[in-house]
Amino acid sequence: MSTEKKVVVELCMGSSCFARGNSNALMEIEAFLEEHDMNDAVSLEGHLCLGKCNSGPHVKVNGVEYSAVSAECIIDLIREALN
Ligand code: FES
Repeated sequence: MSTEKKVVVELCMGSSCFARGNSNALMEIEAFLEEHDMNDAVSLEGHLCLGKCNSGPHVKVNGVEYSAVSAECIIDLIREALN
């Protein structure tokens, strides 16, 4: 696998999104990347509240914003972005 980061995943770490699932999603995504040896392909970052807390938790994958995401959903988006 190339060492170039192919996918940028930005999780909203604002208090609402964090409490509504992104805290758990962060741990699950980190475990998934480790388990599948994908740390070199995916850049996992956090960002501040987007001001859209009601439709959270939010994530951006390669700059595209998604609402009401679960860890499983984010992992599917990562898989899709890598294809
Ligand atoms: S905390 Fe994520 S949009 Fe506000």
